[in-house]
Amino acid sequence: MVDDLLAGGYENVTVLDISQTNINMAKVRLGAASESVRWLRADLTLADFPPRSYDVWHDRAVFHFLTRPAQRRAYVRKCSGLDVVRYDAQSLHAEFGPSFRLVENGTAQQFFYCHFILNPALRMSPHED
Ligand SMILES: C[S@@+](CC[C@H](N)C(=O)[O-])C[C@H]1O[C@@H](n2cnc3c(N)ncnc32)[C@H](O)[C@@H]1O
Repeated sequence: MVDDLLAGGYENVTVLDISQTNINMAKVRLGAASESVRWLRADLTLADFPPRSYDVWHDRAVFHFLTRPAQRRAYVRKCSGLDVVRYDAQSLHAEFGPSFRLVENGTAQQFFYCHFILNPALRMSPHED
């Protein structure tokens, strides 16, 4: 993900992982480009972020590591909500245009992905459980 963001010209990219080994692997993979990334080695559930400090929050298979309810509540408090566009196979195909042929629509996918939008009116206070 970080490779593609940098290649796409995105700036102010932060990568957080609890494992320094994993961070180092990504840094080596990126080479010099890694210097434009903010790397945070931290437990996501304990890290201190200012409210709404990120425009986009992308979880790459972390949430399922949080086995305790308190960890999951801490995680949710740190996510920010953004508007998203939702697609089904036809509308996504329409975005790519007729030069692409739809081969399959992902019904056999092993993982599931979710987009959530935060309702500010129902937002929990930072210390609420
Ligand atoms: C499936 S791997 C994904 C790795 C990488 N982000 C990627 O996209 O390829 C999940 C990552 O979550 C990290 N992780 C697990 N628990 C964490 C936590 N509490 N805080 C931060 N990172 C955590 C692991 O160290 C691991 O690198």
